[in-house]
Amino acid sequence: MMRLEDKVAVVTGAASGIGRATAVLFAREGALVHASDVDGPGLDETRELAGAGGGVVETSIVDVTDFAGVKGHIDGVVSKRGRIDVLVVNAGVVRVGRVEDFSEEDYDLLIDVNLKGTFFTCKAAVPHFKRRRAGTIITLASVAAHIGQNNHANYCSTKAGVLGFTRALALDLAPFDVRVNSVSPGATDTPMLRSDVAKEAEQRGLPFEQVKREFEEQGVLTRWAAPEEIAAGILFLATDDASYMTGADLRMDGGWTTR
Ligand SMILES: NC(=O)c1ccc[n+]([C@@H]2O[C@H](COP(=O)([O-])OP(=O)(O)OC[C@H]3O[C@@H](n4cnc5c(N)ncnc54)[C@H](O)[C@@H]3O)[C@@H](O)[C@H]2O)c1
Repeated sequence: MMRLEDKVAVVTGAASGIGRATAVLFAREGALVHASDVDGPGLDETRELAGAGGGVVETSIVDVTDFAGVKGHIDGVVSKRGRIDVLVVNAGVVRVGRVEDFSEEDYDLLIDVNLKGTFFTCKAAVPHFKRRRAGTIITLASVAAHIGQNNHANYCSTKAGVLGFTRALALDLAPFDVRVNSVSPGATDTPMLRSDVAKEAEQRGLPFEQVKREFEEQGVLTRWAAPEEIAAGILFLATDDASYMTGADLRMDGGWTTR
C-alpha cells in the first residue's frame, strides 16, 4: 500500500539533496508533489527522477526569501488541488566561517533563507491548514540546532531558530489538528555538505578527505547519511504513523548528538 496516496505535498528546496529525495519518495508513495526551488535545471531532474518511478511531481521556481512568490505558489497549489496535506519546509543554505571573519552579507543570506524562508513558507500555508483543520508541517532543523560546531556559529543560530519556531507553531496549530515537527539530520551526503566540507578544508588548509573523515566520525555510525535516509524520516512524520507527534524533533544524525 502506498503511504501518501492522493495526498497533496509541497516540498521546498526540492532541486537537490534531501528535498529532492523527499519529493521523489513522496511521489513513489502516491503523493501529488509540488516541488519548488530557485534551481530550474535541478527541479527538472527531480521531476524526471520521480517520473521514472511513475510518480507525479510538479515543479515551480520559487525563492523562499520572496514572500509574494511563496504565497503565489502556495495559493496556486491550493486552488489547483483544493488543499495541502503535507508541507516540507526544507530549503536551506550553509555558510562557514569564524565569527570575526563572517560577513554581514553571508549572515543575511542564512537568516533570509533558513529563518525567514521557513517563516514565509509557513505564513503562506498556515491559513489553508487552519481552514481545513488537518494536515502536517515538517521543517528542517539540524544537529547544528542542538550542539555547537566549530566555525558554524552563524549557521547554528539559524537552525536553533528553526527549532524554536517549529515548537511554538506546533502549539498554535494543535487546536486545529495540524501537527508540526522538525527533522534534525546529521551529516548527509548532499551538495550542501560537500561545499561545507570543501570550505572548511580550504579555511583550515587541510585535504577535503581529511575533513570529510572528521565529519563522518562525528556520528557513532561513522558514515554520512544518504539523503534518502533522511527522506524516510520526513515520510514517517508526514503519515498517520506519527499521529501522536507534534512539536517534536526527529534526530537522524547517526548518533552525533548522543556523544
Ligand atoms: N546535508 C546535511 O548534512 C544537512 C544537515 C542538517 C540539516 N540540513 C538541512 O537540510 C535542508 C536541505 O539541505 P541539503 O543538504 O539537501 O542541501 P542542498 O544544497 O543539497 O539543497 C538545498 C536546496 O535549497 C535550495 N535553495 C537555496 N536557497 C533557496 C531559496 N532562497 N529559495 C528556494 N530554494 C532555495 C537550493 O537551490 C537547493 O536545491 C537544509 O535546510 C539544510 O540546512 C542538511
